[in-house]
Amino acid sequence: MIHIRNASEADFPIIQEIAQKTWPNTFSAILSPGQISYMLDMMYSTDSLINQTIRNGHRFLLAYRQECAGSDVCVGYASYELNYSGEKRTKIHKIYILPDCQGEGAGIALINKIEEIAAACDDHKLFLNVNKSNPAVSFYKKLGFEIIKEEKISIGKGFFMDDYVMQKCI
Ligand SMILES: CC(C)(COP(=O)(O)OP(=O)(O)OC[C@H]1O[C@@H](n2cnc3c(N)ncnc32)[C@H](O)[C@@H]1OP(=O)(O)O)[C@@H](O)C(=O)NCCC(=O)NCCS
Repeated sequence: MIHIRNASEADFPIIQEIAQKTWPNTFSAILSPGQISYMLDMMYSTDSLINQTIRNGHRFLLAYRQECAGSDVCVGYASYELNYSGEKRTKIHKIYILPDCQGEGAGIALINKIEEIAAACDDHKLFLNVNKSNPAVSFYKKLGFEIIKEEKISIGKGFFMDDYVMQKCI
């Protein structure tokens, strides 16, 4: 069984650990090792996580899987931003589940939780960026997201993200 809880600054180490374990697996067929390492540092250094949460209003959720012995294991995280750019829409910035724990319902549980929080705050849409070659595009489609545009974003050091923007009305 999966349950979700809010993360705080004390949880940054587990978020960083899951990112380090999940990113190479997710992106090694899509991005160069140099770009993966650059983006991990840009998005997951402690300073960056503090900046995202304190200055930019990103909120993190953690997904836990209940083990038979009664202990819970953290299997993934997501982050989101309500009322993005002052509009009635929520941006999902991150969602990553440990490779060995994918396909067990944690991803859908995180998206459902974000949708519930967004709706309670009167946001009418969820949206996100996803690399065009990421199989997660099919996951989002399955959950009712649609591709609304393409975006090629320069992220510095000559690196680019070649993304779809996907959206779901709630
Ligand atoms: C994409 C991701 C978040 C999905 O989370 P998950 O826990 O593996 O997915 P779930 O188990 O909740 O799956 C929910 C449903 O989506 C389906 N699904 C999951 N991944 C899928 C995929 N790549 N393609 C098609 N369907 C998929 C599942 O089969 C399931 O359907 P079902 O309910 O009919 O069985 C997760 O696989 C992941 O972390 N991937 C690597 C990181 C990544 O790409 N993150 C997104 C960055 S934009």
